[in-house]
Amino acid sequence: MRHHERDVDATGATTPSAAQLAASPQGHQRNAVDALLRADDITAGYLPGINILEGCNFYADDGEIVGIIGPNGAGKSTLLKTLFGLIPVRHGSVTLRDQDITSAPAHVLVTKGVGYVPQTQNVFASLTIEENLEMGIYLKPRKFNERMAFVSEVFPLLAERRKVKAGALSGGERQMVAMGRALMMEPSVLLLDEPSAGLSPMFQDQVFIQIKKVNATGVTVILVEQNARRCLQICDRGYVLDQGRNAYTDTGQNLRHDPAVIELYLGTLAGRSEKQ
Ligand SMILES: Nc1ncnc2c1ncn2[C@@H]1O[C@H](COP(=O)(O)OP(=O)(O)O)[C@@H](O)[C@H]1O
Ligand SMILES: [Mg+2]
Repeated sequence: MRHHERDVDATGATTPSAAQLAASPQGHQRNAVDALLRADDITAGYLPGINILEGCNFYADDGEIVGIIGPNGAGKSTLLKTLFGLIPVRHGSVTLRDQDITSAPAHVLVTKGVGYVPQTQNVFASLTIEENLEMGIYLKPRKFNERMAFVSEVFPLLAERRKVKAGALSGGERQMVAMGRALMMEPSVLLLDEPSAGLSPMFQDQVFIQIKKVNATGVTVILVEQNARRCLQICDRGYVLDQGRNAYTDTGQNLRHDPAVIELYLGTLAGRSEKQ
């Protein structure tokens, strides 16, 4: 899958596409210069001797929504966990602005402006919405009111239902609580792991609208999604992660129309079912 042959010349050699060149180490180095958050040549994994990420490059510029798609088990969640210091980096580096944060622990990253919403178990079901949001800012409790006001503006429903237990909410509402909680610490960049997973199409749409709204407040968003097409529609740039490295990167728009990406990751009907 990694070496998709799209342009074969007379000698049988393949010509990499623009999206493949941009994903190459050289392309990455060229484009990641002013990044807010970047990962360079990352190798990481869970079990000794088994690397899940291998030579993975990634960056997000200030203000972007950057999508990460790819098949199940490609390492998308692992990449987010690695950026957030939950998995030790075996090789390579993670940089926030110009600061080396490789393997910095999560609680340090939170104070540096990195927020993370895991895919599952991202709210405390037995606590109210308000208590969940308090948990989000336990490191700076005095800022609670100010941040609560901000989060209420982005997600009015959370303020309206602040006394309701998170366990009583719908899946879509729980995602809102999880994002709201991460926003309490005033992150400059938010890592979201499959926020639309398990939601009905209507709630999925709402989640994507909310992500746009959060991004519009100036928060850079890194979005891992199983809903690849929708993800590429809302992201400024996207990556296709395959076998532990980013195989393609381009604007969301270009990736959606990239024949190799369509064939390998979006299904052959993808191009036909869309107007743009
Ligand atoms: N806690 C873990 N321990 C061991 N292996 C894991 C663990 N979590 C994930 N993996 C393995 O890492 C690979 C990538 O998983 P993951 O990053 O969750 O993929 P994705 O999010 O793209 O579906 C898979 O082969 C998975 O089995
Ligand atoms: Mg995952």
